[in-house]
Amino acid sequence: MSRIFSGIQPSGIPTLGNYLGAIRNWVALQQEPDCIWCVVDLHAITAFQDPSVLRQNTREMAAVLMACGIDPDRHILFLQSAVRAHAQLAWIFNCIARLGWLNRMTQFKDKAGKDRENASAGLYVYPNLMAADIMAYHATRVPVGDDQRQHLELANDIAQKFNHDYGIEFFKPIEPLILGPAPRVMSLRDGTKKMSKSDPSDQSRINLNDDADTIALKIRRAKTDPEPLPSEPAGLEGRPEARNLVGIYAALEGTDHAAVLREHGGKGFGPFKESLTDLIVDRLAPIAAETARRLADPGGLDSTLRNGAARAAAIADPIVTEVERVVGFLQS
Ligand code: TYM
Repeated sequence: MSRIFSGIQPSGIPTLGNYLGAIRNWVALQQEPDCIWCVVDLHAITAFQDPSVLRQNTREMAAVLMACGIDPDRHILFLQSAVRAHAQLAWIFNCIARLGWLNRMTQFKDKAGKDRENASAGLYVYPNLMAADIMAYHATRVPVGDDQRQHLELANDIAQKFNHDYGIEFFKPIEPLILGPAPRVMSLRDGTKKMSKSDPSDQSRINLNDDADTIALKIRRAKTDPEPLPSEPAGLEGRPEARNLVGIYAALEGTDHAAVLREHGGKGFGPFKESLTDLIVDRLAPIAAETARRLADPGGLDSTLRNGAARAAAIADPIVTEVERVVGFLQS
């Protein structure tokens, strides 16, 4: 058995980065028998969320996932807060993970920024909750974007230390699945920064619900350099913005950097940006339409999520009860 698990935070409208680095790969993996997809609202509140906005974003994220092709009937789609096992196991992992390990997490440093003293304790122990998400299901394959690699290494450290401390082979190693030609989509304004839902500049990202005019404007304004596109991938070296746009094109077209450059190499960015805009609009328009259709039926959405949570809990509860027994809790 090789179960697949992944999660996404409902902290805003998902971006093209979320889509190419994660969601699209999740959809392709659904031909495997056993996938679990989670909207991680416990993770979202590590930074304050207005409650009504969080509710709206959570429904919207579930609707977007289904619009992209996530199938809640064949697989499981649910909200993290609806399955208590996540928080229960995360507490135990808080007691396994070492401060030294957490201190090395680059995402905490980026997100906490200069005002570290004012970051929530939840933001600091966030990777332990992520480890719990995966291990509450004995999942072993985790499709993510490249930015989550370090968190998955930490999850493996937690699994190993748990097994070692309690003298039991309980948790298996986790394999990160970092797939496709765009595992790290960069900001449209700065090719060295990740495209992110939480970037203050909306011009830095494509949101999955952006309309055609907005997409055209953002791509037209995307930062580039003065050289024409190279004809081979080696020519993208040291040109992060060019590499980013070519990677986005390749991922949406289902091909690779080399094929895109064979077609567009030697051209200036003007015509390439026009083709790229057409491609993004073509791929995102049906997703936006289907998302709106699903959001029009909030009752149906909520019931799909409740059903997913019941199926998820049926897997996670016995596993976490067993962990509690292993650590010595009397009533487990
Ligand atoms: P989150 O919500 O930040 O992002 C969800 C997924 O999208 C990927 N991603 C990107 N990929 C490529 N380029 C980008 N610019 C980009 N931005 C985001 C992320 O790598 C991720 O795969 N901690 C996780 C959610 C999580 C999780 C888990 C994931 C919670 N528990 C268990 C896997 C397993 C997060 O905040 O993702």
